[in-house]
Amino acid sequence: MSGIVVLISGRGSNLRSIVEAGLPVAAVIANQADAAGLTFARGRGVPTEVLEHRAFDSREAFDEALAAVVDRHAPRLVALAGFMRVLTAPFVVRYAGRLMNIHPSLLPAFPGLHTHTAALAAGVKVHGATVHFVTPELDRGPIVIQAAVPVLPGDDADRLAARVLAQEHVIYPRAIEWFLAGRLAVSGGTVTVTGRREAQLVFAPAVAA
Ligand code: GRF
Repeated sequence: MSGIVVLISGRGSNLRSIVEAGLPVAAVIANQADAAGLTFARGRGVPTEVLEHRAFDSREAFDEALAAVVDRHAPRLVALAGFMRVLTAPFVVRYAGRLMNIHPSLLPAFPGLHTHTAALAAGVKVHGATVHFVTPELDRGPIVIQAAVPVLPGDDADRLAARVLAQEHVIYPRAIEWFLAGRLAVSGGTVTVTGRREAQLVFAPAVAA
C-alpha cells in the first residue's frame, strides 16, 4: 500500500493543500468530469480518474465501481475532500479506519449541508471545521482534529466559509500526516495522537477572513 487517494467533486482547494504539503497523493478521483480540482491535479502530474455517478443506476452500483477504482491504487488512506456523495455502508466499512473526511463545522454541531448558514442562524460565536474518520452514520465518525474560528459581527455565509476554509487547509494535511506516520490511535470513538504531544485543536483568532 502506498499513498493517499483523494476523492473530490469540485473546487479542490483541500486537495491543493494536501498536495502542497508534500503528501503522497497516488490519485485523485472525481465524480464530476468538470471538477476544477482535476485541472489542478493534472497540472501537478497527479494521476486522475473520473467516475460519474450519473452513469450508475444506484448508489450501491456506483460505490462498488468506485471501490474498484480506489483499490487499483492500493492506498493507505482514502481522503474525502469536498466529495459530495453520501457513501453506502459497504463502502465505508471496506475502508474502515482509513477513510477520512473534512467537514465545515465543529462536529457534532451542524452535520450535513449548508453549515455556515446554519451556524449563523443558530447565532453561535465559534464555528469551524473537523477532520474525522468516516463511519456509516453521516458526519459522526471519530474526530481527529478541529479548527475553531470566531463568528464576527457582519458575517455572511461566504465570509464565514472563507475564514473556515483557510483553517481547513491547515488541519487536513496535518491529520493526514499523523495518519501516515502511524500516530493516530482510535479507542472508544476517540482519537489521540501518539508520540510528541500535539494539539488536536487549532484556534484561529479574530483576524480578517
Ligand atoms: C470544504 O468546505 C469541505 O469542508 C467540504 O466541502 C468543501 C470542499 O472545498 N466537505 P474544496 O473542494 O476542497 O475547495
